[in-house]
Amino acid sequence: MTSNHKGSVLITGASGGFGLYFAKYLEKQGYRLILHGRDSARLKLVQDVLIYPEKHRVLMCELSARKGIDQLLECLIHEKIVGLVNNAGFGVWSSFEMSESVAQLDVLRVDLLAPITLSHALLPKLKKNKGFIINVSSLAGEMPMPYMSTYGSAKAGMTFWSEALRMELQGKIKVVTLAPGPSPTGFRHVSGAPKGKGSWFSTSPEKVIEAALDCLLNGGGYCVPGWRHQLLWGMQKITPRCVALPLLKYYLKP
Ligand SMILES: NC(=O)c1ccc[n+]([C@@H]2O[C@H](COP(=O)([O-])OP(=O)(O)OC[C@H]3O[C@@H](n4cnc5c(N)ncnc54)[C@H](OP(=O)(O)O)[C@@H]3O)[C@@H](O)[C@H]2O)c1
Repeated sequence: MTSNHKGSVLITGASGGFGLYFAKYLEKQGYRLILHGRDSARLKLVQDVLIYPEKHRVLMCELSARKGIDQLLECLIHEKIVGLVNNAGFGVWSSFEMSESVAQLDVLRVDLLAPITLSHALLPKLKKNKGFIINVSSLAGEMPMPYMSTYGSAKAGMTFWSEALRMELQGKIKVVTLAPGPSPTGFRHVSGAPKGKGSWFSTSPEKVIEAALDCLLNGGGYCVPGWRHQLLWGMQKITPRCVALPLLKYYLKP
């Protein structure tokens, strides 16, 4: 077994998708992992594909509830935390008026409030250990998203918060704001997104996570992974909103 001198990294939403690749790559960099999720069977599968499954720890909690976040933090009291990957998240693909308000608010709780709460609570340890935070945002935070309105709002909030944090914490800890476009994970199935939409821009989860970890090695920053996502980002930047929004409304309608 490798030594644990690098300390532990908490990865939220580690039961599949991007979380799985964060786990694989961060383990190879010598970190001990704290794998968070809600689905114990899928978390176990992730743990089993790691090189040293017994070295890592699995913690389960619901991030939409303050009680769940507090329970998670309680379990971390004695851990030497050097990294936090705020990765857990989901969206609701539906017209706002037809969807449950609880689900829409949960998107904000899980995708924005939980990362802020966890980061604030773990900051003293992260600073002490000269560690890092990777915030998994999205290109959905670059442009309003009809039929995914709260998801886009949560990710816009995350991008702004994370980028501001990066500036405030310069020289203390490294911060990566990861802003991917479409990638084949469980995200579409969970959010109810129809297959095919935006798939030309799809980039593999491996490439997304490699780009995020390269960005971390280079000191942190705003990371749009791969040329397809960068092309999408470029299109978002040059298209006037009065043109983009009606097009998005037409294209994204469920
Ligand atoms: N895939 C894309 O196209 C894409 C693009 C841009 C950004 N992102 C972002 O990437 C991040 C990772 O998503 P993914 O694509 O890997 O999707 P995924 O495969 O669906 O994974 C999402 C993870 O978040 C966890 N999670 C969801 N709701 C939760 C809740 N209420 N409490 C606790 N954990 C919860 C899930 O845990 P359980 O399964 O154990 O419940 C799962 O581990 C998300 O923040 C997403 O917004 C994804």
